[in-house]
Amino acid sequence: MKALILVGGFGTRLRPLTLSVPKPLVDFGNKPMILHQIEALKEVGVTEVVLAINYQPEVMLNFLKDFESKLGIKITCSQETEPLGTAGPLALARDKLMDGSGDPFFVLNSDVISEYPFAELIEFHRAHGGEATIMVTKVDEPSKYGVVVMEEGTGKVERFVEKPKVFVGNKINAGIYLLNPSVLDRIELKPTSIEKEVFPRIAADQGLFAMVLPGFWMDIGQPRDYITGLRLYLDSLRKKVPARLASGAHVLGNVLVHETAVIGEGCLIGPDVAVGPGCVVEAGVRLSRCTVMRGARVKQHACVSSSIIGWHSTVGKWARVENMTILGEDVHVCDEIYSNGGVVLPHKEIKSSILKPEIVM
Ligand code: GDD
Ligand code: MG
Repeated sequence: MKALILVGGFGTRLRPLTLSVPKPLVDFGNKPMILHQIEALKEVGVTEVVLAINYQPEVMLNFLKDFESKLGIKITCSQETEPLGTAGPLALARDKLMDGSGDPFFVLNSDVISEYPFAELIEFHRAHGGEATIMVTKVDEPSKYGVVVMEEGTGKVERFVEKPKVFVGNKINAGIYLLNPSVLDRIELKPTSIEKEVFPRIAADQGLFAMVLPGFWMDIGQPRDYITGLRLYLDSLRKKVPARLASGAHVLGNVLVHETAVIGEGCLIGPDVAVGPGCVVEAGVRLSRCTVMRGARVKQHACVSSSIIGWHSTVGKWARVENMTILGEDVHVCDEIYSNGGVVLPHKEIKSSILKPEIVM
């Protein structure tokens, strides 16, 4: 089976992290977002992943080359010269997706995390015999998503409304699809929205089905959702593979510490924290609801909460970093500094406190 991941877009809502790498390469739970997806696809027998991309393909491919051999999966790029939306890229990659087997193929939005229940998705798709299956999940605030109205029992989709202005329902498109090759005959090679132009038509022809996604789901394309997503992801690890989580007197709740990270004496870490490869957390540090990315250092007695510390950054002694502070790559927060929601661009040194949420250029 094949899969296509929609990678395009500049990831502006995750700046300053996406100033250093394309959004799918931003670490989540100690590894790039896209690796979670590729590993799960490999598990259900996908042999080739096509990355539908519209800028910096070299960065992605260079990074993923290692994983091609480690995971034993082919990773290729399909590069647009203009953004083709969420359906156009399928037309562009048509030859890669049609391998003559007649098998359906996966399509994923690159910024969604879940337990990726792909085996259940395949089973559901085979059982209904329709042309396309989308996974749906319930949310409290459906207006920023694609909303699906489906027949209870069968899952047949009656309506698909992208970003509705009025309430139509609370089941939303999770950005995970399994499509028959015939769907490609419905898409022209031009900028097209799968949500606005393709799904409503398949639904009208009675061929679109939806399956309620078991387990957690989150679109982590924005800092606040990224931090919530980490909590859900760690909760799920606790249930499925608790041995991967840290334990000990210094740990509170669900905490992921990379095996190459060093934690000093007298720290208190958790809940909902990820400490990445090569990080150094010095003595007496307090971390909660945060991500500390590869190579970062948090110095003695600093306190970090509800924040993201970008790659190779440092947080000084007795510093306090909180309230959705996002440090880009290689940012240095001096000793005793306070940051309340600072969004700091890469390579900056912060010498005075940031008292209210603002962007520091
Ligand atoms: N290759 C390519 N080219 N990819 C693109 C393009 C493009 O022109 N435009 C967007 N994408 C990719 C994005 O990188 C992302 O992975 C995916 O398509 C969806 O785009 P977003 O910009 O993240 O859309 P959204 O979050 O507002 O809404 C989508 O996701 C929701 C779930 O998170 C829709 O699919 C909604 O229906 C859905 O509920
Ligand atoms: Mg999104």
